Amino acid sequence: TCGGRAGRHPPSPTPSSGCSRTTPRRSILRMSLGGLCWAALFPAVVLGQGDPASLPPQEDDVLVKLGDSASKPLTLGDVPGNAELVAAWPMAPASKVVRSGNRLNELRLVRLDPTLLGGASASDAAGGVLAYSALCPHAGCNVTTWIPDKGILSCDCHATDFDARASGSVIAGPAARPLPPLPLKLSGDVLVVAKSFATSIR
Ligand code: FES
Repeated sequence: TCGGRAGRHPPSPTPSSGCSRTTPRRSILRMSLGGLCWAALFPAVVLGQGDPASLPPQEDDVLVKLGDSASKPLTLGDVPGNAELVAAWPMAPASKVVRSGNRLNELRLVRLDPTLLGGASASDAAGGVLAYSALCPHAGCNVTTWIPDKGILSCDCHATDFDARASGSVIAGPAARPLPPLPLKLSGDVLVVAKSFATSIR
């Protein structure tokens, strides 16, 4: 379900109405994607399996912005430093099949100062750009909030905060698992998948 915790984030009346956090937070950059709920989209995930568009991100896939009808591969310049969250899909570079047939493939791209990254996040980043699954491991809402000055990706459904500087580890909230990172590399200035998710999404 998408009910919020009492006293912090009021629950949405229905899953289809989204799961947006209503409490204003300074320096929060929001996306207008809404907090879609896993339960509402689960049938599409199941039906999409077996289709190239539904394969998980593959090594050497490029990334394209959600809603980009031109399917232009994203470059470093498309992910502004320390500013905006970019929603993306992986795309097979040869066939140009956008892997949007499975909701598990939806990504969130953020860019941080590479000097702030340590451990696995440093090696998973490409030019400071990090990719994470959009799917919150708590109950399957989309992660839609980015707090760049704290390096936090947040799910508004039940207020789980994930540390983008530390491989998506949980800082606060009910999620029991990190937000899965997707390692990236660069080909010139084009963002490319270095390898598929190291941890399962669901
Ligand atoms: Fe509950 Fe994300 S679905 S915190």
